[in-house]
Amino acid sequence: MIFNQFFDKTSSTYTYLISSGKGREALIIDPVIENTEEYILYLKRFNLKLVKVIDTHIHADHISGLKELQNQTSCATLMGDQSPAEVVTLKVKDNEKIKIENIELISMHTPGHTDCSYSFYMNDRVFTGDTLLINSTGRTDFQNGNSIDQYHSLFDRILKLPEKTFVYPAHDYKGNKSCTIAKQKKTNPRLQVKSAEQYVEIMNNLNLDIPKMMDVAIPANKKGLTIKELNES
Ligand SMILES: [Fe+2]
Repeated sequence: MIFNQFFDKTSSTYTYLISSGKGREALIIDPVIENTEEYILYLKRFNLKLVKVIDTHIHADHISGLKELQNQTSCATLMGDQSPAEVVTLKVKDNEKIKIENIELISMHTPGHTDCSYSFYMNDRVFTGDTLLINSTGRTDFQNGNSIDQYHSLFDRILKLPEKTFVYPAHDYKGNKSCTIAKQKKTNPRLQVKSAEQYVEIMNNLNLDIPKMMDVAIPANKKGLTIKELNES
């Protein structure tokens, strides 16, 4: 299997490329538009055919590469059913299979960070978007975020996955690349709560600044933007 984790320094975003091997089909999760060339070069290097590209949710801190990759490769663009993004050609509901050749991901609707947040489970790993971050969780104070929903997405869904499952988040600000469910249960400070109410209390008191890119990124990601459109805007 080919598995690559790309990092966008500006937004601290992780993007993932998965393929069953050289010369085979590939899928990308959470691409950043400015890094499109890097993904295309990687695809060329291993002679991969990009067939699906996924956003875990509508991002507020960077512009998604979905539309540009669709433009360049004619791949399908995929998000959860609740996504308002116009660019999406394939919407999945909870617990659907997403296949490319012999690779299979299971969609998990994990709302809370946004109402359209999905995680994607694949054998030994789960792509958690901004629902579960390493030693943190995604904020819930805009885009129909909801701390109670996030508590249930975390405790009733993601943390119920096998303990040895690797967590691959959409962001990390401290250089962590992945972690296991078992370790997150023990060390993630936001998961050391005894009730949904306690979790909501933590989330209500984060006092975070609004993301710098938010006013640009959210409308752009709902509409879908190509590099040409980005340069002209
Ligand atoms: Fe996010």
